Amino acid sequence: MKNEAPLIKYLKDYQAPHYLIEKIYLEFSLADEDTLVKSTMDVKVKNAGEKLVLDGEELIFISAKINGEELAKDSLVFTNETLTISNLPTTDFVLEIQNRVNPKANTALDGLYKSSGIFCTQNEPEGFRRITYFIDRPDNLSVYTTKIIADKKQCPILLSNGNLIESGELDNGKHFAVWNDPFPKPAYLYALVAGDLGLVQDSFTTMSGRVIDLRIYVDKGNESKCHHAMESLKKSMKWDEDRFGLEYDLDIYMVVAVDSFNMGAMENKGLNIFNSAYVLADKETATDDNFYGIESVIGHEYFHNWTGNRVTCRDWFQLTLKEGLTVFRDQEFSADLNSRAVCRINDVNGLRGFQFAEDAGPTAHPIKPKSYIEMNNFYTSTIYEKGSEVIRMIYTILGPEGFRKGMDKYFELFDGSAVTTEDFVHAMSVANGNYDFSQFKLWYDQAGTPKLDVNFSHDISTGEFKISVKQSCEKVGGETIEKKPFHMPIKLGLVKANGEDHFLTLKDRADQRDISRGIVHLKNEVEEFIFTEVAEKVVPSFNRDFSAPVKIKSNTTKEDLAFLMSNDSNEFNRYESFMTYAKELLQEMVKTGSTNVEEKFALAFGKIITDDKIDDDFKSLCLTLPSISDLVQDQEIHAYTESKKAIDAMTKNLALRYEDEFIKIYNSIVSNEGEFKVDAKSMGQRKLKNLCLTYLGESSKANEFASKQFKAATNMTDLLGALKVIVHNNLASKAECLESFYSRFKDQTLVMQKWLGVQAGSEDDSTYETVLKLLESDVYDKTVPNLVRALVGTFAGNKAQFNHESGRGIKFVASQIKEVDKINPQVASRLASAFKGLKKMPVDLQKVARAELETIIAIDGLSKNVYEIVSKTLA
Ligand code: ARG
Ligand code: ZN
Repeated sequence: MKNEAPLIKYLKDYQAPHYLIEKIYLEFSLADEDTLVKSTMDVKVKNAGEKLVLDGEELIFISAKINGEELAKDSLVFTNETLTISNLPTTDFVLEIQNRVNPKANTALDGLYKSSGIFCTQNEPEGFRRITYFIDRPDNLSVYTTKIIADKKQCPILLSNGNLIESGELDNGKHFAVWNDPFPKPAYLYALVAGDLGLVQDSFTTMSGRVIDLRIYVDKGNESKCHHAMESLKKSMKWDEDRFGLEYDLDIYMVVAVDSFNMGAMENKGLNIFNSAYVLADKETATDDNFYGIESVIGHEYFHNWTGNRVTCRDWFQLTLKEGLTVFRDQEFSADLNSRAVCRINDVNGLRGFQFAEDAGPTAHPIKPKSYIEMNNFYTSTIYEKGSEVIRMIYTILGPEGFRKGMDKYFELFDGSAVTTEDFVHAMSVANGNYDFSQFKLWYDQAGTPKLDVNFSHDISTGEFKISVKQSCEKVGGETIEKKPFHMPIKLGLVKANGEDHFLTLKDRADQRDISRGIVHLKNEVEEFIFTEVAEKVVPSFNRDFSAPVKIKSNTTKEDLAFLMSNDSNEFNRYESFMTYAKELLQEMVKTGSTNVEEKFALAFGKIITDDKIDDDFKSLCLTLPSISDLVQDQEIHAYTESKKAIDAMTKNLALRYEDEFIKIYNSIVSNEGEFKVDAKSMGQRKLKNLCLTYLGESSKANEFASKQFKAATNMTDLLGALKVIVHNNLASKAECLESFYSRFKDQTLVMQKWLGVQAGSEDDSTYETVLKLLESDVYDKTVPNLVRALVGTFAGNKAQFNHESGRGIKFVASQIKEVDKINPQVASRLASAFKGLKKMPVDLQKVARAELETIIAIDGLSKNVYEIVSKTLA
């Protein structure tokens, strides 16, 4: 049976609410399956005479009163998603509602749910309507007071947003707590937590001298793993003061870690709720990437307090207003605390790996989407990461000081309100002499990754160096209207033989303003820049630091790329030249089927290995070859098998050719290792060491090196690094090491997620059978999102195995989508995005995939989440 298509919501239909709820008093009597919610709301009438439509889903209604009087049944109309009340007073009134919810049955983990003994909430974007009837939209800002009543033994800790104003004992072993948050906020920032939790406490003194009580709540026994998160929190608070002049506002800041959570973390006012993966860490159980990720996510959620909470979104189409900006802020935070170039490279690789693929696929959307079916599907790398790139371009255009002025203006104009991306750009503009962003704003409305065709030409005799650029951007994601050229800032340099930049003098152009900063502006479809007085040989270094998030095709020669790899003063572009070179070669190998590696490239690669002037972490990046997904992105039909073959061949070739060098570096790092630290230098060393081990994984000494590291490891980075090499190369000690890892960590779910991930991520053909077996493992639980992502999600992202020519990988993931959708639609729809390459799959595979997706879309009771992704993929 065909499902009825769910409703589409459009940005153009936005209307301000007819009613606002200025104050709400909530009382919860918590019980696993039958929680009673009483809500008392002060309702402000904006448009008298209109009906009041409250959102409400999966609720059991008890009663509604207006100004103390019970409402008659005939003034209430219910649907699955709303409660409409008519015959309302024309002046402000008090609305009281009582309802019940079942937290234990809430496996979607949206709204109020109970998992592993803890009651907690997730209300962004539309979870609050699963707690009680409400005007659940971000432009409805209310002051919340919450009374929580619960069993004292089961739930000694009772938390909500803001300040604790009262608590006490009740009969029957119960107790209560009352919290009040003085800052008006939308319902998506509301939070409640109750359970038996351990506490780690610290404090932070703000720039104005206020002492903030910092608290991290975790499962008992995990207190010792909170140190890094707490340090990260204090660093975040300091950084926001230093860089943006932004101080924390409440007197208490709480973070709660839970194991079952749909995403990374949530910035609820004064009460962040985190996936425990982004809180808990010690050297035995967390990798360096985990430490890094914790710092970044703690920062992200903290920074939301100003960009998201104090100034919030008018409607969900504006999501990038807070997410793009906050990702930009967390990226800057990480860059200031770690190596800026390495951070930039990792961020750009993340963007290219996920966002570019998304932007070329069936669910492509502008950072400000025009419509959606299920908002949860729009927490995408486009809204987040591309959104951040758009903010970064504004930053590049205005410069650090201009940007800061714009931020100050943004808070001056909009603190306490719910605004749009237009409002943000407006603030940036007026703070900078009314800078003209009219063309720039197209970045908010047009989807797709722009392409630049760049041609460099140099006439030494006249001293003219010419750069011609043509920009284009294919229509994607159902776009119909003709696209207009984007305004993009391009950072560039002309590199002289000695590695220094040539001075830049631009001929015949009005927009000279930024050339002293090495920036030109692309605005027209075709642009030409002529630099004069260039009388010596130079090599152009274009789009430095990835100043515009685009794909570039240019006539730079391989010689020039090799030159830039070792001479460009811009570290990002040194790396970029390497990647461009490697990708070009690999694509040639894919086309010709050759397994030979060009000598010039191999030599350049070797030069990097032995160059001891390069930082370890930067070196590791430069020695990491492109992945299958990097390659298929630039192929008409995704040649998964051939791409894997080319990458494997190049890896093996370089590994054997430079075996001695890898061994030398490896041994020298191992013998100089001091005590374990999580600073940039030590992390860089471990990274390079484990990269060397990856190359050694190709040699005859693989098992020797990897097993030795596995046995000797005193931290998770080294242990997992070794295990990965052992598993991915099917080394002799594989079974033994997997078993020993398992028995050591089987009670720690975060570590078991790594164990599952390593196995599901192997490109080896045995992986399919392994994954089927692991589904039955006692550490796996399909109701826990982290576990599903670690096992099924990793497999779905394993390009070699998901796209296996037999079709079995595709069939398996499709069957998992069906199973998981019944439990948790958000997790299922993320899995469904693995099919975004459908139209570029090899024909036979595409047939299999289509047939599978057709069976999904035909399911009775399929979630809106999966419906939206699958229907767009099939369209
Ligand atoms: N606002 C949260 C953050 O970026 C993420 C919320 C994601 N919500 C969702 N339903 N996927 O920190
Ligand atoms: Zn966020």
